[in-house]
Amino acid sequence: MHRQLRPLLSNIFRCNTNNSVRYESTERVVTLIPGDGIGPEISVAVQQIFSAAKVPIIWEKVDVSPVKYPDGKFGIPQKAIDSFLKNRIGLKGPLATPIGKGHRSLNLEIRKVFSLYANVRPCRSIEGHETLYDNVDVVTIRENTEGEYSGIEHEITPGVVQSIKLITEKASRRVAEYAFEYAKSNGRKTVTSVHKANIMRMSDGLFLSCCRQVAEQHPDIKYKEMYLDTVCLNMVQDPSRFDVLVMPNLYGDILSDLCAGLIGGLGVTPSGNIGKEGAVFESVHGTAPDIAGQDKANPTALLLSAIMMLRYLNLNPYADSIENACYSVIKAKKVLTGDLGGTATCSQFTQEIISKLA
Ligand code: NAI
Repeated sequence: MHRQLRPLLSNIFRCNTNNSVRYESTERVVTLIPGDGIGPEISVAVQQIFSAAKVPIIWEKVDVSPVKYPDGKFGIPQKAIDSFLKNRIGLKGPLATPIGKGHRSLNLEIRKVFSLYANVRPCRSIEGHETLYDNVDVVTIRENTEGEYSGIEHEITPGVVQSIKLITEKASRRVAEYAFEYAKSNGRKTVTSVHKANIMRMSDGLFLSCCRQVAEQHPDIKYKEMYLDTVCLNMVQDPSRFDVLVMPNLYGDILSDLCAGLIGGLGVTPSGNIGKEGAVFESVHGTAPDIAGQDKANPTALLLSAIMMLRYLNLNPYADSIENACYSVIKAKKVLTGDLGGTATCSQFTQEIISKLA
């Protein structure tokens, strides 16, 4: 069904203040999920910055609070699903995951519903935001739909449960293909497949063999294989030796947070979830309930995710301009939110970025 849906590159007629009709070309409609907790505050910040930079985007805001379907299960409202299927591009703030309330993580649900098979997290050191490392430039590409998170779990007998790690050739091959294509289109040199095929010979073995086959089709990109534990050890010793990393779901979940930690944490790390039919970009931190509604949140992660989205949409000049403004504010260290070591509010930080737009 999704294949029949066309990308919405809409030509839109708008009214000027003098009510004459003005033609705006190729404005793109983007589904916006502001999310919970600090989500609405950081979403407004991104919208304000995009508006000041005159980015040709129209936001279609949707609520993804779970609704109960006739089968008794909770899920994403149909309206939100329809919006994404129409627009095929989304920006998402954090969503609270209620513990033990009978429905699974909405983040997982969104990835499954829209088949967003590759999670991409570029982790690059930010000038002015000091951490233990100043030379990080790593991209983790995580298989996003199966592996240890396939959700197949059962109790064999009281006190004994089994959880299935599902690895398929189809999913392994498509994430490997994405990793090599990403490397090529972003001027990267090496793709490293991260695995534990010495222990999980069949599952990780299949993942590896798919990566090898795809690597053969990309002789211009260097291909390496490394054990997950060795990668962790080497990453904290010298992250500069890594480039693009591709791996199954659970390893990617953990390693991508480790890499985010190297550059200053989830508050400054963007991410994108890429599918064959579209993509959803999101901040990877949570809803920060301790500071929600207090104008204290740092919108950088969502802003950098939105900048990734602009590049995905080939709106690179807008992406460059906003990224430069954001990095120059962080580098100047004058107007920073609390988590970055400053005392500014989210609104003040946002206005400072706007003032630096070229
Ligand atoms: P959290 O990331 O919300 O908060 C951890 C700490 O980081 C808190 O002190 C918070 O104030 C701070 N923080 C996080 N983002 C920040 C930002 N942008 N600016 C300034 N400070 C920030 O993690 P926590 O407390 O474990 O989770 C809270 C809720 O968020 C839970 O319901 C969890 O399920 C959900 N969550 C959602 C995610 C998503 O939608 N992708 C990811 C992680 C958690």
